[in-house]
Amino acid sequence: MFIQIACAAFMLCACGGNQTSVKSFDDIVASRRSVRDYDASKTISQEEVMELIKCAQEAPSWANQQPSKYYVAISPEKVAAVKELVGDGNKRNTAGAPVMIVSTYVKTRSGFFRGNPANEIGDGWGAYDNGLSNAYFILKARERGFDTLIMGMRDSDELRKLFAIPDDECIMAVISLGYRASDPNRPDRKPTGEIVKYY
Ligand SMILES: Cc1cc2nc3c(=O)[nH]c(=O)nc-3n(C[C@H](O)[C@H](O)[C@H](O)COP(=O)(O)O)c2cc1C
Repeated sequence: MFIQIACAAFMLCACGGNQTSVKSFDDIVASRRSVRDYDASKTISQEEVMELIKCAQEAPSWANQQPSKYYVAISPEKVAAVKELVGDGNKRNTAGAPVMIVSTYVKTRSGFFRGNPANEIGDGWGAYDNGLSNAYFILKARERGFDTLIMGMRDSDELRKLFAIPDDECIMAVISLGYRASDPNRPDRKPTGEIVKYY
C-alpha cells in the first residue's frame, strides 16, 4: 500500500512540475488561460519554440495556402524591443516572458482564386487561417507546460520596421510565451445556449 501511494505521488510530481498536470485535451483547454504574470527566472529554447510552430503548421488553411508566419524575439534585446510596442498594460503584464512572437499572414492568398477574392470575406480568410494557426500554437504551448498571452494591442508599423516584415504581410497578434508565475483566473463564458441554435 505504502509503495502504491509513493508511486502515485512520484507520478504526480513528474508530470506536473510547477505547472498544472496536463493529461488530456480537455485538461489542456481548461488550463490554458491568458497569462499576465510570468516567471522571469525561466527561459525557453529555440528548439522548444520550433516544436510549437511545427504544431501550428498542422492547422488547416484555405486551399492549404499556409499564409501564417512567425517572427520570434528570443534574444533579450529583441524581446525588450517588442515589449515596448504592445502598450503599457501589455508591457507590464508580459514583463517576465522570455519570448515574444509576432504573428502575420501573407495577404491575397487565403480566400483568393487567381488573384481575385473568392467571396465577400476576402483577406478575412487570411486572418481566419492565422487565428487557427495561433490556436494550435497556444494549445500546444500549454501542453508543453508553457503559457501565452495573445495581444491585439500592438504597434504594427514599428513591429514591421523591427523585424523588416514585408508589406504583403498583415501583422496580426503579438503572443508572449513563458511560464506562469501565478494562477490566472478563468473569465466566465456565455451560456452555451446563447451562442448556438439547432434546427
Ligand atoms: C485577438 C485577441 C486579442 C487580444 N488582445 C489582448 C491584449 O492586447 N491584451 C490582453 O491583456 N489580452 C488580450 N487578449 C486576451 C483576451 O482578453 C482573453 O483571451 C479573454 O479575456 C479570455 O480569457 P482567457 O484567454 O484567459 O480564456 C486578446 C485575445 C485575442 C483572441
